[in-house]
Amino acid sequence: MNEQILKDKNIIITGARRGIGRVILELFARNGANIWACVRTEDEDFLSEMNQLADECHVWIKPIYFDLADEESVKKGIQEIIKEKKPIDVLVNNAGVSYGGLATMTPLKVLKDTFQINYFAQIQIIQMVLRVMMRQKSGAIVNMSSIGGIETAPGYLAYGSSKAALIHATKTISHEVGQYGIRVNAIAPGLTETDMGNYKSEEEIQKVLERSSLHRKADPIEIANCALFLASDKSSFITGQVLIADGGRICV
Ligand SMILES: NC(=O)c1ccc[n+]([C@@H]2O[C@H](COP(=O)([O-])OP(=O)(O)OC[C@H]3O[C@@H](n4cnc5c(N)ncnc54)[C@H](OP(=O)(O)O)[C@@H]3O)[C@@H](O)[C@H]2O)c1
Repeated sequence: MNEQILKDKNIIITGARRGIGRVILELFARNGANIWACVRTEDEDFLSEMNQLADECHVWIKPIYFDLADEESVKKGIQEIIKEKKPIDVLVNNAGVSYGGLATMTPLKVLKDTFQINYFAQIQIIQMVLRVMMRQKSGAIVNMSSIGGIETAPGYLAYGSSKAALIHATKTISHEVGQYGIRVNAIAPGLTETDMGNYKSEEEIQKVLERSSLHRKADPIEIANCALFLASDKSSFITGQVLIADGGRICV
């Protein structure tokens, strides 16, 4: 068997039911991690798939239910994890929503809702988890930002600025908690083959791909591999960084 680079680490992953989060979950379990799999709603199929994966990988996987749109629900979900009094080695803040629309056509309510999920809830989770990590004097946080949080383009106000704010938080918090042995990094994926990566029209997708060196979308495993690196001790001297995995976007 290959080296299991997350062996016995206890890891929180949000947005674990589908897309990039699901692939991260499977990759991490196969690398020996125990996982709190955070999902929005209860789902019997998900539960039985998780039990099967846990048996196969000789790890535990525990579903935790909360909705990032609801502050109280996030608090309860993370408290449930903290009450277990287990070390929390890694937090992967993966869940997110996309919203496209020109600035003049974006109602403030949509902007606030997008920020609630892509920024405020992520910060709330980070704050709660950091209290544990600071006590244990170790930990790694991986925030899923986006190339849309670095590049600017028409139609990206809500999504792009929420992801840019997450990058700012990543860097700021990394400076504050480095002294406790905690690393905080972000990933900025380009277009990735998931439900979210398919919400644009075929024409828009082609335009994005034409402007990339590799001329294709990422497979979610290529983003999960970045998360694996940043979550593991292989990146032990890396903090406050944004790992861009966008197939070589060409700025024009
Ligand atoms: N795909 C891309 O092209 C791309 C590019 C750059 C960055 N990203 C980022 O990568 C991350 C994962 O994206 P993805 O492509 O895997 O997207 P996805 O397939 O749309 O999955 C999004 C995940 O977030 C969860 N989520 C959304 N709203 C939530 C809420 N209110 N409460 C709890 N969970 C919620 C979803 O849960 P449910 O299953 O319950 O809906 C789902 O698991 C996101 O942060 C996204 O911004 C994606």
